[in-house]
Amino acid sequence: MNTNPKIYVACNFPPEVLALFTTRFGAGYNDTGRVLHTDELIENAQGMDAIVLTATDRLDKTAVERLAPSIKVVCTYSVGNDHLDLDALQAKGIAVLSTPDVLDEACADTAWLLMLGAARRVIEGIDLIRGGTWQGWSPRQLIGRDVWGSRLGILGMGRIGRAIAKRARGFDMAVHYHNRNRLGAELEAGAQYHSSLESLARHSDFLCIACPASPSTRGLVNASILQLLPPDAVVCNISRGDIICDEDLLQALKTGTVAAAGLDVFAGEPNIHPEYRQLPNVFGLPHIGSSTLRTRLAMGELLCSGLQAWFSGGTPSNRVR
Ligand code: DGY
Repeated sequence: MNTNPKIYVACNFPPEVLALFTTRFGAGYNDTGRVLHTDELIENAQGMDAIVLTATDRLDKTAVERLAPSIKVVCTYSVGNDHLDLDALQAKGIAVLSTPDVLDEACADTAWLLMLGAARRVIEGIDLIRGGTWQGWSPRQLIGRDVWGSRLGILGMGRIGRAIAKRARGFDMAVHYHNRNRLGAELEAGAQYHSSLESLARHSDFLCIACPASPSTRGLVNASILQLLPPDAVVCNISRGDIICDEDLLQALKTGTVAAAGLDVFAGEPNIHPEYRQLPNVFGLPHIGSSTLRTRLAMGELLCSGLQAWFSGGTPSNRVR
């Protein structure tokens, strides 16, 4: 039991979110306006009971070992935790809290933005408007592909995947999915299960990646999967960039094996593969999946209540196991 835990907020939060922490805890925070170097983060967190960071703050084994012994909890302001060495944190007796559930709907909205934007050639349309080069309506102009009535393949039918699937009903889409484990009928809600990614790919006019990233998903969507997609397919990624093999996707986009891609996440962010910036059939967004104020506040609230539960001897619902 610690009634006044000291928290270090390493992320560059919107003021409304930062206030959630500073009004509830003795909180120090990053006021540099930029992502901290790991050394700075470790230094600033000296003597703290908990730190709050984001997916841009990587804590590998070495960094975890260097964390101050006072730190009992690491909070990540994300649902993904592939930036943290969970084994090293557990070995050091540090609990990890994250932000599941509260961002599902915002991320699902973003997945639809990606699918629609990529399928309907939004980047090329915006270029015409902004560049002042639009010659007027033409029956040949920017012919895209239908989203409605197509087959949606979801890789990773967790809560975000299911929120994406729920929206597909309004578009009269047949939903297919691949997961390690098949869901029960209620959660499946009519979606068709595929026990392999290969089978899912064959049935996906839109392949939407929504699975958590881990070492086993690195490069999972590669040339051998992409070539199984039906002609004119669209690939979307709302999860983590390294699930896609960049070279293979770029090749598929250039040759037309894949018609278009909608990507909110990229390997090596923000230093993305330069060809993603050049290809007209890439609808790219800068990792804004959960970026609405309501969702970002809910993420902050969840971490704060988890911290309060933890330091008063309870069990936070958002503890990463
Ligand atoms: C998440 O919550 O994992 C988002 O991708 C932000 O990192």
